[in-house]
Amino acid sequence: MKKITAIIAALLFTLNMMASEKKATVDLIPVPVHCKVGKGTFTFSPKTEICLTTDNPEMRNAIAILSERLERSAGIQLNVTANAKGAQVIVCWLNPAIPHKEGYKLHVTPHRIEVAAATPAGIFYAMQSIRQLLPATIDKDSLSAGVKWSVPCVEIEDYPRYPYRGLMLDVCRHFFPVSFVKKYIDYLAYHKMNRFHWHLTDDQGWRIEIKKYPKLTEVSAFRDRTLIGHYSDKPRRWDMTHYGGYYTQDEIREVIAYAQKRFVTIIPEIEMPGHAEAALAAYPNLSCSGGPFELVGDWGIRKDIYCTREETFQFVQDVLSEVAELFPAPYIHIGGDEAPKLRWSRCFACQERIKKEGLKDEHELQSYFIRRMEDFLQTKGKRIIGWDEILEGGLAPNATVMSWRGTEGGIAAARQHHDVIMTPLQSVYLDHYQGKQADEPLAIGGFTPLSKTYDFDPTPASLKPDEAAHILGVQGNLWTEYIATEAYAEYMAFPRAAAIAETAWSPQANKDFNAFLNRLNLLLSHYDAMGLRYSRSFQK
Ligand code: ACM
Ligand code: ZN
Repeated sequence: MKKITAIIAALLFTLNMMASEKKATVDLIPVPVHCKVGKGTFTFSPKTEICLTTDNPEMRNAIAILSERLERSAGIQLNVTANAKGAQVIVCWLNPAIPHKEGYKLHVTPHRIEVAAATPAGIFYAMQSIRQLLPATIDKDSLSAGVKWSVPCVEIEDYPRYPYRGLMLDVCRHFFPVSFVKKYIDYLAYHKMNRFHWHLTDDQGWRIEIKKYPKLTEVSAFRDRTLIGHYSDKPRRWDMTHYGGYYTQDEIREVIAYAQKRFVTIIPEIEMPGHAEAALAAYPNLSCSGGPFELVGDWGIRKDIYCTREETFQFVQDVLSEVAELFPAPYIHIGGDEAPKLRWSRCFACQERIKKEGLKDEHELQSYFIRRMEDFLQTKGKRIIGWDEILEGGLAPNATVMSWRGTEGGIAAARQHHDVIMTPLQSVYLDHYQGKQADEPLAIGGFTPLSKTYDFDPTPASLKPDEAAHILGVQGNLWTEYIATEAYAEYMAFPRAAAIAETAWSPQANKDFNAFLNRLNLLLSHYDAMGLRYSRSFQK
């Protein structure tokens, strides 16, 4: 009996230790670089002031979301002041001496919160941390009564591991309205991610208004049928609904401004030379065969791609000129993936091009295509990003490679001292199954549970330090062949995107899947408050 009592006592002691150890940290995702929990709390009230030692529009943006949340959910209007004398005050300092441009220091004491960062982006991320530390109802869009709006006293020093922390959304296979795109950007920013890759053109739909080529939206943005069920089902079944949509340039400007307020840069993708059949349906003269083509409503790789006749270059350059004008990002993604060379190998004009330019084969012709785009975009002050197929036939001199078929392309590019964004399908493709197929809604395939996404390290151990420095970061890709609704998009993306966010932000040494799962409970309660329809498949 004595023995049992001793065991129970020991067990209780251990549990107690575990509980107090737990309190030594806060449940933030991504996990901060350094964090020390103090005693007590800071409680927001209508008297709370926020002091901006530098007051400008960017600093106003940095605090806008937290202010809006407090107003909508707590009914608290944060008073902005220029001096830090209030009895209950958040003081935001810009300190250019802080080495990490997006980093921040956050010191919460019972009557004062000190926030310091080198840039307004750092202040913004500190505000996101405060938001996550507040009761989850802060993320509801209606007032919650009887809540004590407190955050624990804590000292945090935090900065991102990578400068590129992204999510991609395919709006071609299925179209998502501006309201959802904005929501997706909100989610990104909430997780301290800073790049939204907008996949705007593909075989099944062209989604961006181009003033010079009105048929791209009149014709290329709509299809007459869409596959139901899986690509490999036999027989195939079709939904015969006229389907599509596009964003006007005004809408795109609106989304860019929205993203800027959340410190998110939008990388537009205009696919070439493949995944272009929607454009060819409107302008068949840009193909090798001359068409005709219609918009397809099933998935996979299409044989018909842009021809390398001069006419095509004129078209894509006109398109890219409008895109470069619209988007302030320093990069434009030009695709480059999955472009079969069959049509080029049989096309007189393409074979003439190969001869004239002294190229070895169709792979070098693709490389020529991409290089021309790089040269052209350079005149617009932009650099290119391409999928890892742009390595084939030789990389364009300044191209950044998005490594998707694995990490090998990224490794090869980094060894050539090219910048790399890691998006390997085995780890961060958000269209893959995240649980047992039998338990999940229809998806394209694969099996990428949360743990596998979490365990991905974007910097391969085989790279030397100077090569590893070219790994700009990591991105989750949400391809939407099988994702027709907003609810399903959220289900597929979350919480795997939270795992990607932690990989992108937190030091590798701070990462631990079980600890992540513990912290995830709090994040999920915020998701619930936001109405984010995430998956719980990781618990099965
Ligand atoms: C890709 O998934 N085809 C880039
Ligand atoms: Zn051709």
